Amino acid sequence: MSEQSKQLVAPTGTHDVLPDTSRAWERVVGTFSGMAHQWGFGLVLTPMFEDVAVFNRGIGEESDVARKEMYVFEDRGGRMLALRPEGTAPVVRAFVQHHPTTPWKAWYVTPAFRYERPQAGRYRQHHQLGVEVLGTEDPLIDVEVIALAWRFYEALGLRQVRLIVNSMGHSECRSTFVLSLRTHLSSQESQLCEEHLKTWSGNPLRVIDCKKRECRKVIDAGPSIADALCAECDAHFSQVADGLTAIGVPWERNVKLVRGFDYYTRTTFEFVSDALDGSQNAVGGGGRYDQLAEDLGGNPTAGVGFGSGIERLLLALQAEDPQEFETLRDASIDVFVVDTTGGQEALQICDLLRRSGLAVDRAYDARSMKSQLKAADRSGARVAILVGPQELEAGTITIRDLRALDEGNRQKLVPRSNLVDAVREAIEMSMG
Ligand code: HAM
Repeated sequence: MSEQSKQLVAPTGTHDVLPDTSRAWERVVGTFSGMAHQWGFGLVLTPMFEDVAVFNRGIGEESDVARKEMYVFEDRGGRMLALRPEGTAPVVRAFVQHHPTTPWKAWYVTPAFRYERPQAGRYRQHHQLGVEVLGTEDPLIDVEVIALAWRFYEALGLRQVRLIVNSMGHSECRSTFVLSLRTHLSSQESQLCEEHLKTWSGNPLRVIDCKKRECRKVIDAGPSIADALCAECDAHFSQVADGLTAIGVPWERNVKLVRGFDYYTRTTFEFVSDALDGSQNAVGGGGRYDQLAEDLGGNPTAGVGFGSGIERLLLALQAEDPQEFETLRDASIDVFVVDTTGGQEALQICDLLRRSGLAVDRAYDARSMKSQLKAADRSGARVAILVGPQELEAGTITIRDLRALDEGNRQKLVPRSNLVDAVREAIEMSMG
């Protein structure tokens, strides 16, 4: 086969989302957008690519994502750009650029691009839903941001998600901690895994994330961030914890939770699903980033937010309850119109029924009755409407319950003038 005629497929680590699952996407995004509005957030859309400095300064040049995973390219004008690997830095860049009044509450849904080794739950293009709040240090906004994520998971029906919370402290606490961590790691250097033996001094915090046994042992014996928190950061953390408890959001603290980006200060959190495989079980995560606006050239402005991976949410939903997941992605319509008189009748009937709010489809190309009925069955519709020459002549329509088991009661003839009501009634009857 020549290169020219070879079939082209989506790049490694990316996926097409087709109608057999995209209905679940619509429902997840719809639930989130409704809730974000309820919580007082407005949708913010920023470009899919940014000046690479937005991410190098934002998430930190030493972070794994900036070092190894960003899609960086030079455009035709010689600018260095990067496809966004995450949603927070672009939103903060937009905040700095447009100076909106604070607190500024933004929500988004976006693809994110990371050159990772693809595996189940980890892709080179994934999609995130998230929120960011800029302009307040109040720990109660941390609580609301976390609670929004929690209530969202609840609304989706997830029951096996746990919330893990920690505090990284503000920049001074963090520096104190990093210093003692450095001392510890330098004394244990030879015990570290191969990768971190080489990289720990560039960003010692990354070693804490390492899943390898060698690094875990070193980290377990090392200093704890909890001991490095100043009184103010400690109090901030307690207020977040008390707030969560007050509204009944269960949480656990893990002092080893440090997240992958350098912008985090104070509150950090992650939502893990016990229904997913351990290495890719985070369905969401976030935290505070009180320095980020300044790092991107703005005035000092506190911020907090979270992002949640849509693919991971769907994997978790499917793992928790496969049957319920089928309902979530069910794209069945209400009515399928079968017209054996040429197609014009179907055109008018579809228009009438769709305007009445029903989900309606039909066949094209003047197919045979048999072929149209097959298409009706495939569509998942509850009822089919049949129009043949006899019905046309008599001003009637046949309504067929596609799910009825009792052949005798399956069809009925109704006057065309009463079509919408008769179809609605038939759908209700079919649902039992
Ligand atoms: P993150 O933890 O890197 O945080 O990503 C958020 C979520 O996106 C993860 O919990 C996971 O569900 C999903 N995710 C991340 N990488 C992949 C991947 N390669 N494949 C599939 N899903 C993935 C952030 O991106 C921060 N911007 C979150 C945030 C918002 N912090 C403050 N505000």
